[in-house]
Amino acid sequence: MAPFLIFILISFLTFLVFQLCQRLRFRLPPGPCPWPIIGNLYDIKPVKFQCFSEWSQTYGPIMSVWYGSSLNVIVCNAELAKEVLKEKDQQLADRPRDRLSAKFSRDGKDLIWADYGPHYVKVRKVCTLELFSHKRLESLRPIREDEVTAMIESIFRDITSPGKLGEGVVVKNYVSAVALNNITRLVLGKRFVNSEGVMEKQGVEFKAIVANGLRLGASLTMAEHIPWLRWMFPLEKEAMAKHSTRRDQLTKAIMEEHTLARQRTGEKQHFVDALLTLQDKYDLSDDTIIGLLWDMIIAGMDTTVISVEWAMAELIKNPRVQEKVQEELDRVIGSKRVMNEMDFPNLPYLKCVVKEAFRLHPPTPMMLPHKATAHVKVGGYDIPKGSIVQVNVWAIAHDPAVWKDPLEFRPERFIEEEIDLKGHDFRLLPFGAGRRVCPGAQLGINLVQLMLGHLLHHFHWAPPKGVKAEEIDMSGNPGVITFMRTPLEAVPTPRLPPHLYKRVAVDM
Ligand code: HEM
Repeated sequence: MAPFLIFILISFLTFLVFQLCQRLRFRLPPGPCPWPIIGNLYDIKPVKFQCFSEWSQTYGPIMSVWYGSSLNVIVCNAELAKEVLKEKDQQLADRPRDRLSAKFSRDGKDLIWADYGPHYVKVRKVCTLELFSHKRLESLRPIREDEVTAMIESIFRDITSPGKLGEGVVVKNYVSAVALNNITRLVLGKRFVNSEGVMEKQGVEFKAIVANGLRLGASLTMAEHIPWLRWMFPLEKEAMAKHSTRRDQLTKAIMEEHTLARQRTGEKQHFVDALLTLQDKYDLSDDTIIGLLWDMIIAGMDTTVISVEWAMAELIKNPRVQEKVQEELDRVIGSKRVMNEMDFPNLPYLKCVVKEAFRLHPPTPMMLPHKATAHVKVGGYDIPKGSIVQVNVWAIAHDPAVWKDPLEFRPERFIEEEIDLKGHDFRLLPFGAGRRVCPGAQLGINLVQLMLGHLLHHFHWAPPKGVKAEEIDMSGNPGVITFMRTPLEAVPTPRLPPHLYKRVAVDM
């Protein structure tokens, strides 16, 4: 027992000395008083973006929050966001990695977890010029349209089956299927689920890998923030190694299939084909290709589902807005055909609805964390090298200083004022801004607009029987991404002729 107590005492004193040094050397932003060893970890409420937004009322728009011994600087207003993401962007563009992200990204050999440097610049260029070019996104458009029509067919089939008329459906179940099929087709050229809804062998393995990754992520403890305590909380090393091997084996098998298919049939547009074709030109290792493919899957799947689910909840709570979008869809598209992406320029109100949903419910409310590569000043305070910097985009999007009636779901605000969504206006940052802005933003917006447009053109949506619109639970789940705490249930009523509820399948 005695050695343990001595260890705790030494740790305690070390922490106090470290804190004192930091405070004497630097003028750190204000914040809640940290406890020894754990810092503010026990004070942070599970839904962090709301907790930090509340704290900013006391400590101001830039705060120091200690996660164990690591300093997190949280900024909560548009001016400071601009300083972090534009003016001081270059010194704040690294990523902090916990042991899991370090392991799975092979210490940042991918894009998401890469530090800002030559490797990052190279893979970012591959993403911008090759993967997310207008030409490629356009060539993959039929996949998105196919999947969205498949969703409509499946909702229609389920609600018109005997005894089901007037019953509620869980919106997320249908939207998640689109997001899954869409991303695996786009990235890996695979639709793991066949038209009967049966998942093939590789798909079962894919889903198991995704679920296992989430489980391993959830197993991380507070020790991630207190490096010298990590020895007490060893990682599930064997499970992690097994997970990495499974992921690599499946991805490599798919890469090989694609190489053979290209030899037979020539050029293909999926991300896996693009990366393999460009492997020599950009000198990409296999680890980087695998890392990039999984980055796109992880970053591009749930974010779109979350956006659509929240938007649908707002539209059910605000029937005036729902009717107004439907009036626009009826006027522009009518009831003789279904919507497609070519209709976007003629659907300005739908676009405003999407923007308003991204404003009130950014899927990644604190973006992803950035790390300082040098000592830098923000808002007049010191940010020491190695500190983590987070922008609370949720707080900014709810700030009454920059938004009139911020809590109101009122898409018209975007008709009254043109506000950019992709990182040029620091009041609205669902995709971040600057060097690390989301490379998949346009793809994400297209998919969300397409899903919402279809859901609203084909169906009228109401709360389930016995539930009033104002009773819908609008609270969010804790986590880096924010699903609705209670999955949205709603009753869809068809509004178009039955022959328009058929999937328009494409083979690509
Ligand atoms: C509604 C949809 C989406 C939202 C709200 C969203 C939001 C974000 C945000 C906030 C970041 C972090 C920016 C930063 O650190 O400063 C990010 C990064 C990223 N996103 Fe998205 N995203 C979406 C869809 C997608 C899609 C569809 C893809 C790809 C298929 C994608 C791929 C990525 C990647 C690879 C990064 C890391 C970029 C980097 O570190 O340089 N995202 N996204």
